[in-house]
Amino acid sequence: MSMRPIAADAIGGGPRKGAVHRAGAALRRLYALPLAAAVMVLVIPAEAAAAPDPARGQQIYDRCLACHAVENNRVGPRHCGLAGRQAGGLPGFDYSDAMRAAGFTWNRQTLDRFLADPLGVVPGTTMTYDGIKDDQERRDLVAYLLSLKPCAPR
Ligand code: HEC
Repeated sequence: MSMRPIAADAIGGGPRKGAVHRAGAALRRLYALPLAAAVMVLVIPAEAAAAPDPARGQQIYDRCLACHAVENNRVGPRHCGLAGRQAGGLPGFDYSDAMRAAGFTWNRQTLDRFLADPLGVVPGTTMTYDGIKDDQERRDLVAYLLSLKPCAPR
């Protein structure tokens, strides 16, 4: 009279039990999929928004050295003391009219926008540089630029 599993096997419950088991496993995989997707959604933006790294930004600044230096004007203006400076506002540097008229100061946001697309943000600028398209590279570079000390008195 007892319903021990062995009795179920004897009347063909074995395969059905196996089928139920397989269905359960499939169901678990079904649940696992969206879970894995959810974990990826959580992880990927967290990586994309990694904290800005000024040391890495300094390496990216190598791309600017053809025209800029931190302490000296070259083709482009020097970058010491850039944080909070009026765009086109370094005394003695021969800016374009477009940069002089830009009308904003340099901060994290304005630098990020300008460096993504210099000619798009300040049409007519003489900074003929295509910009830095990678968001994280730009964040790192901007962190470096904002870390530069005020220019030494001269
Ligand atoms: C091909 C030369 C060239 C390259 C490369 C270049 N720049 Fe410039 N940059 C200029 C010139 C010229 C100006 C002045 C633009 C004007 O007056 O319109 C300028 C202006 C700027 C300004 C405005 C500064 C101020 O005093 O208002 C910033 C910020 C700047 N550059 C950042 C960078 C960074 C960061 C890089 C590297 C990713 C870079 N530039 C690459 C030539 C260059």
